[in-house]
Amino acid sequence: MNIMEVDTVRLDEEKKAVIIIDQTKLPGRIELLELRQAEEIWRAIYLLQVRGAPAIGVCAALGLYVLAEQIQEEDYEGFWFALKKQSDYLNSSRPTAVNLSWALERMEHCLEICHFNGEEDDRAGWLACLHEEALKIYAEDIAVCRRLGEYGMTLIRNGDGILTHCNAGKLAAVRYGTATAPIYVGMEAGNRYRVFCDETRPLLQGARLTAFELQEAGVDTTLICDNMSASVMKQGWVDAVFVGCDRVAANGDMANKIGTSVLAAVARQYGIPLYVVAPTSTIDVHTATGDDIIIEQRPPEEVTEMWYSERMAPERVKVYNPAFDVTDHSLIAGVVTEYGIAGAPYTESFREIFTRKEACGGNPDRQ
Ligand code: MRU
Repeated sequence: MNIMEVDTVRLDEEKKAVIIIDQTKLPGRIELLELRQAEEIWRAIYLLQVRGAPAIGVCAALGLYVLAEQIQEEDYEGFWFALKKQSDYLNSSRPTAVNLSWALERMEHCLEICHFNGEEDDRAGWLACLHEEALKIYAEDIAVCRRLGEYGMTLIRNGDGILTHCNAGKLAAVRYGTATAPIYVGMEAGNRYRVFCDETRPLLQGARLTAFELQEAGVDTTLICDNMSASVMKQGWVDAVFVGCDRVAANGDMANKIGTSVLAAVARQYGIPLYVVAPTSTIDVHTATGDDIIIEQRPPEEVTEMWYSERMAPERVKVYNPAFDVTDHSLIAGVVTEYGIAGAPYTESFREIFTRKEACGGNPDRQ
């Protein structure tokens, strides 16, 4: 099985399950997981079996539909409360990526609209609406990432060196990814790039996932440790840094995998632009600045023993293990969205991006 030919997350109508690639097994084994129960979906997100902001959102939407099918309530109030309970539960799995609550809120909202419209206002009708919305979120992810790639590739030239962090690739979305989309779309146009991916301690998404998928896609890939970014930049091997993002605040500050802000500071030192490649679903205009973003804290074992054959830190040592950090908007050269590239001042440029989105009825292919 080539990972590039399998959707990272999808709905299996017959099995009434969400199918994901189990990312905790990569790159050693490609295993698919079938998720049907709320606990299974919650755990899959928490344990990073499915991960990356867009993929988490799609998984939650498809998952909520699968759970809705199991709700037997025939009256609207009963159905709504049962769905809301499951939605809130899934939403508690990880706090930082806004795509999770964004997708779940879309599902809740579509049920409300279906009920208030009054047509087919019964269990079958509600399920039909939820089914349509979940598949829309899934299909939009593919179209949106493709557009990110088209806009993003205008920022680079054939032969460029690109550095990326964590995995904002195909494995973090349904297809294409966000930070990798310019590379994949550029390659379709005949371009070639040299890509450096850093390991991304402590969970090694760069080594296990990005290096793996880029190689599978035939990209010239070089793996470096997290502390080698200055070295490759200083040698002139990097023309641009492309990263994904879990939440962009209204002022352009953004939370992404821990280490992104270090990379941004180093890139600034060497005059290399750092671009955030993110769908508009990752822009949270209700969060004013990066200080308001909740940063997930993860178990200390991820730092002290996971991946090692024996523990690599003294017993009882204090561990600080934030999963994300916030990069100040002043260090970001631009935010690539499916409706164009936003620049400073971000409050204004995001307003323009959302106006464009509204004018297209939320369909980036209508631009
Ligand atoms: O903890 P993870 O692996 O879910 O973190 C993922 C990232 O930080 C990604 O860069 C981000 O979600 C964007 S994915 C397109």
